[in-house]
Amino acid sequence: MEKIEKHINDNRNNFIEELKKFLEIPSISTNPENKGDVKKCAEYVKDELKNIGLENVKVYETPGHPIVYGEWLKAGKDKPTVLVYGHYDVQPVDPIELWTDPPFQPTIKGENIYARGSADDKGQVFIHMKSIQSHMLINKSLPINIKFLIEGEEEIGSVNLDKFIDDNKELLKCDYVVVSDTAMFDHDVPSICYGLRGLAYMQVEVTGPNRDLHSGSFGGAVNNPINALAHIISKLKDDKGKILIDGFYDDVLNLTKKEREEYARLPFDEKKYMKGLETDELFGEEGYTTLERASGRPTLDCNGIWGGFQGDGAKTVLPSKAFAKISMRLVPNQEPEKIEKLFTEYVKKISPKSVKVEVKSLHGGKGAITPIDSPGVNAAVEALKKGFGKSPVFVREGGSIPVVNTFQTLLKSPTILLGFGLPDENAHSPDEHLNLNNFHRGILSIAHYFNELSKIKL
Ligand code: BES
Ligand code: MN
Ligand code: MN
Repeated sequence: MEKIEKHINDNRNNFIEELKKFLEIPSISTNPENKGDVKKCAEYVKDELKNIGLENVKVYETPGHPIVYGEWLKAGKDKPTVLVYGHYDVQPVDPIELWTDPPFQPTIKGENIYARGSADDKGQVFIHMKSIQSHMLINKSLPINIKFLIEGEEEIGSVNLDKFIDDNKELLKCDYVVVSDTAMFDHDVPSICYGLRGLAYMQVEVTGPNRDLHSGSFGGAVNNPINALAHIISKLKDDKGKILIDGFYDDVLNLTKKEREEYARLPFDEKKYMKGLETDELFGEEGYTTLERASGRPTLDCNGIWGGFQGDGAKTVLPSKAFAKISMRLVPNQEPEKIEKLFTEYVKKISPKSVKVEVKSLHGGKGAITPIDSPGVNAAVEALKKGFGKSPVFVREGGSIPVVNTFQTLLKSPTILLGFGLPDENAHSPDEHLNLNNFHRGILSIAHYFNELSKIKL
């Protein structure tokens, strides 16, 4: 491993320069006008996988954006096969005016590289590519069998991925799945994530009168859909942060006593957290700590709300329609379809008869808990010790990677979540960036990880 480490250290700056090419492609999966860019990005990933020495590299078309696959299976049957999953698509850039530098012109400032997708998830995918390339250049081989699966629809709910996995179970068969698409707990705190939340994303549309009305002539006589929507939203949660939807908590996997003790041991500074958010008081479900609320408990939040007059000045109008986007983060065991149904029934139940209410489900995904006692996890602990010089912590995260559940159910392979982002790197928001020390240590860690995995007796 010394030669590989030296190669990675010597090429630290080259790897950063190369990463820029990947970050320059505006692969925004949700924007129809970026469809060509997403395709270009898939081609970029394909070329890169070939360049680093993977074989059988293919771009698989789907009804949406392409999936890229590559493999190297010459380590032998007695060595583990690892499937590396990541995504090359990124979130939209709006509000663009809040970016300090253009989102697709990667900019290095201090310890960070700024660009959309730098942390989520291109930078982390690149970590795996450069680790593989370093092994290949030094040893002309890899210590384990590798399969690489990089998709282009993660940020829009991985619409076509489950079917691809179901149709290609043999191609994707593996002993472990490794995903780098989460964050470290904090600076200098290497982390292994063992739990992700699920998601149910809804839209509520409220219709009052059949057209916008003069609020002087009609106000007081008909219900206002914005008022009605506000009334509905106010009944979804109580003032102690508890969700009021009937049956919502029925399937919740509660945190164990041991887990809560582990949460309490994490190096978390609540004052600093509040300062970072410029907030004087936190809010969440009564009876739980901030960390538990943000990753181990389910939530309900409005993501957007609109209707009526939005311009400058005043217009006296009683609008015909009002809308809200409402999402619920779920914990393992909660089924998105069931929660969508409970949400819809409850909203209908509490809606005033004086308006029409339509509830749509936009998308959803299951949460996951991954085992923390597998040989694959022990190898990750050793690898992170070598890459970061300290033992990792085990954490649950609040975000969602629905395919992790699919890997567990369809491939029956334990998934290991080794993330190298940081919670304050502005994923999904303006000025997204990735810490370059973590990028470098990530490459070292993953190079070691492949080596540690090769020691596992199958
Ligand atoms: N990388 C994130 C998931 C994530 C975020 C994990 C924070 C851990 C901490 C992923 O790209 C993402 O944004 N997922 C979406 C999923 C959704 C579109 C189904 C999310 O969590 O909102
Ligand atoms: Mn991601
Ligand atoms: Mn994301």
